[in-house]
Amino acid sequence: MSIAVEEGQLGGRKLRRVVYEAHQLQKRVSELATEISGAYGPEDRLLLIGILKGSFVFLADLVRRMTIPLQIDFVVASSYGPGQSSTGDVQLLYDPPAPLNGRAVLVVEDIVDSGTTLLNLVPKLRARGPSSLEICALLHKRKIPLDPRWVGFDAPNEFLVGYGLDLAEDFRHLPYIASLQLTDELTDVS
Ligand code: PRP
Repeated sequence: MSIAVEEGQLGGRKLRRVVYEAHQLQKRVSELATEISGAYGPEDRLLLIGILKGSFVFLADLVRRMTIPLQIDFVVASSYGPGQSSTGDVQLLYDPPAPLNGRAVLVVEDIVDSGTTLLNLVPKLRARGPSSLEICALLHKRKIPLDPRWVGFDAPNEFLVGYGLDLAEDFRHLPYIASLQLTDELTDVS
């Protein structure tokens, strides 16, 4: 199948493969929007909380296909302290000011990898007394037994970029999701 990859977006980096083409993402996001819209009513006062930065493209596409009243906020979560390695503890760098008490909260995540982000964030949000708290993740690598109510795709264990996902802040703007050839793979080529 031919894939329209805009080489100019890649800054000279090579893709290993396109994992989800743009049209596949759009189709699955529409399905998720329909399912989620059917699961809530106006009385739920649904609040979607996107985890920045990675979820911004997915969230924007998802909410424009939803057919029920909802509100949107974000959290900025970081599992990194002053050093370069993960501390395992997630700090909220931006925290939604809206009271969650009695509202239905849907956390929107681009990818569940180690699960560190969600395992730390969900208890913090649940402690604020939402009437329900569910997770919608576009991608899930299934490394941990965390079971979001909605998952877009079970993802391969490759380094994925695009549609919000980055490598050192690059590639978030790609309309598809691809895995990158890593530097050692490039130097391996004889
Ligand atoms: C990425 C991604 C998820 C998280 C998943 O965010 O967007 O939020 O990692 O990984 P985990 O399951 O191992 O916690 P990152 O911390 O790279 O920040 P970003 O969203 O700004 O890219």
